[in-house]
Order: sequence, then structure tokens, then C-alpha cells
Amino acid sequence: MTVYQQALTTLLAEPKRWLITGCAGFIGSNLLEVLLKHNQQVVGLDNFATGFQRNLDQVQALVTAEQWQRFHFIQGDICNSNDCAKACEGVDYVLHQAALGSVPRSISDPARTNANNISGFLNVLVAARDAKVKSFVYAASSSTYGDHPALPKVEENIGKPLSPYAVTKYVNELYAEVFSRTYQFHCTGLRYFNVFGPRQDPNGAYAAVIPKWTAAMIANEDLAINGDGETSRDFCFVANAVQANILAAVTPLVRSEVFNVAVGDRTTLNQLFSAIKQSLQQHNVHYDKPAVYRDFRSGDVRHSQADISKANKLLGYQPEYRIAQGLEIAMPWYIALGK
Ligand SMILES: NC(=O)c1ccc[n+]([C@@H]2O[C@H](COP(=O)([O-])OP(=O)(O)OC[C@H]3O[C@@H](n4cnc5c(N)ncnc54)[C@H](O)[C@@H]3O)[C@@H](O)[C@H]2O)c1
Repeated sequence: MTVYQQALTTLLAEPKRWLITGCAGFIGSNLLEVLLKHNQQVVGLDNFATGFQRNLDQVQALVTAEQWQRFHFIQGDICNSNDCAKACEGVDYVLHQAALGSVPRSISDPARTNANNISGFLNVLVAARDAKVKSFVYAASSSTYGDHPALPKVEENIGKPLSPYAVTKYVNELYAEVFSRTYQFHCTGLRYFNVFGPRQDPNGAYAAVIPKWTAAMIANEDLAINGDGETSRDFCFVANAVQANILAAVTPLVRSEVFNVAVGDRTTLNQLFSAIKQSLQQHNVHYDKPAVYRDFRSGDVRHSQADISKANKLLGYQPEYRIAQGLEIAMPWYIALGK
């Protein structure tokens, strides 16, 4: 039995109360689904800035009526400290996901990203500390590696941030460290590397590459690759990120830590283009257009690949899905969404 399977068995034996901020979003709603399926009590906080009621409805359809009864949703804002205090009442574990994602969004509106990702983060952190929760896990980001050239990325070696978004995620880590030293309130940051999977929004100017390309191929639209296509990423299926969150929440640590959450693989955009195309073919969706190459996008890191040995050693994290398996699971969801 893996450490993760043991953790899930413990959860089943002892139901706890969890807070998921950003529960109507992509990663948040996947966390919600798994926790409810393991009969946990979950409080969810979301203001629907980038999340959807349809994500919550889909989770409801995937769990029993009894499990859904254990979910309490608060429509509220992490920028409002009263909402945060209310959401943290009686909570054992916090999984803080709410933030405004996207590097380009932060470049066009740095102040809004700052308000949500730094002031909002601090509100949740203070509320969780005051509520004396057992653990606080938060979504950090691989963007914190910035311009550091080394590959694979190791937690302690970071460079200078390349975007306002990266600044906000790094400041989260600094606050977590300071709360550990000052209040002995230990937090665990998970530096996600390009998470993908069902319920990730394919629409809008700030959509991530996998849902965006998948939706474009399903709709038979032209598709653009930023740069020469040799930019690479460590794409991480969402079930791996869920595993990391649960392990991080239930593993006692003596100080604040950050962990890479990825697979340890490197896929170029050109390879990704072919992989999505092939995966869709298995579902009778055929895309024959060539990709259109355009300029590199500002703020983007050239290569990204994680060393995941720290998360493996301290949390027992073992990603169960590589990119191809993740795409296989995600495609039917995107095809259904496109209908
Ligand atoms: N998806 C990735 O590849 C990735 C990579 C690195 C880090 N992250 C981080 O992981 C977290 C989750 O990302 P996601 O991909 O699920 O994004 P998402 O946009 O799908 O989810 C974010 C959720 O937070 C909510 N939210 C935003 N601002 C809020 C506020 N002020 N109050 C309450 N709710 C608010 C949104 O409505 C949304 O439901 C974010 O913190 C993001 O920065 C994601």
C-alpha cells in the first residue's frame, strides 16, 4: 500500500472538516470530489471570479446524496476577512487554492492579481491561524523559479520572478515562512507545475494551454504555438495534485515547507500538440490543421521540469499519472463540454 493509499484509509476511518478555498475552480473542485467521495466534511469558499457553478454541479453528480450533504458552500471573497473567518470555523485542514491565476492576466492587471493573491492569501492565513487549524496547505507555483536556469528545478534554488503573478506566489511563500517563525503556524506550499485535467476552463484569454488547444482541436479552429514550440513543461495531471494536497495536509511537519508538485517529465509544446491530437483521435476527433507559430509570450519561462524527490521523501508523494494517461482521462470531459 502506498503512503497515499494509507492516508486515504485514515481519512475514511476518521472524517475531518476541510476548507477548500477556490472550490468552484479547476483544482478546488477536483479536491472537493475526492474528499466527498471519502466521506469528509467540506466547507467551500469561492466568489466565482474564475470558477463555475457547473463545476460544483458536476461534483454533486459524481457523489452520493449523503456525501453531498457533507458539503457547505459559502459564496464569499478571500479579500473579505469576515468571509475567511467564517469559512475557517471548526476546520481541521485548509487547502487554499483561491487566487487569480495566469501570467498574462497579472501582466495586464497586476493590482488585481496582487489584491487577490497577496492580501487575500494573508486574510485566509490569519483566519486559519486564529481558528487553530491542524494544517494549512496552499497552492504555490513553479513560476517562483523565475529566471533560474537549472533543470530540474530543486526547491531551494529559485531565480528572479518574471511576472507579477510569480511575485505574488513567492510572497505567499515568504508569509508562510514568517508565520512559521513568528507564530509557530506551519504551512505547506505546493509549487504546482502546469496542472491539467477535467474541469479546467478552456475559454477566455487566460486559458491554460492544454484545455485551450483541446477545445480548439475539437472545434476544428486554428491553433497557435507561442515561440518555436520547443518551450517545455512538466505537465501534471490533477489527480497527482490532489494526492499532494491530501498528503501535505495529513503529514505533520516541524516548519513551513514548499514542495514541487509535478511528475518529473519534460514535454515540449510541439510534443504536446501531437499528444493531444493523438489522444483526441482515439475518440474519433480528427484535427489535420498545422499549428501556427507566433512570437514568444512575455513572462514565460523557457523550460520547466521538477525534481520531485523532496515531496517523495517528506510526504510520500508518488504521482500516479503521466501526461498520456492524464490526457486519456481528460479528453472525454472536453469532448462532452464542446457539444
Ligand atoms: N492550474 C495550474 O496549472 C496551476 C499552476 C500553478 C499554480 N496554480 C494555483 O493553483 C490554484 C488553483 O488554480 P486553478 O487552476 O484551479 O484555477 P481556477 O481559476 O480554476 O481556480 C481558482 C478558484 O479561486 C476562485 N477565486 C479567485 N479569487 C477569489 C477570491 N478573491 N475569493 C474567493 N474565491 C476566489 C475562483 O473563482 C476559482 O474558482 C491557484 O492558486 C493557482 O494560482 C495553478
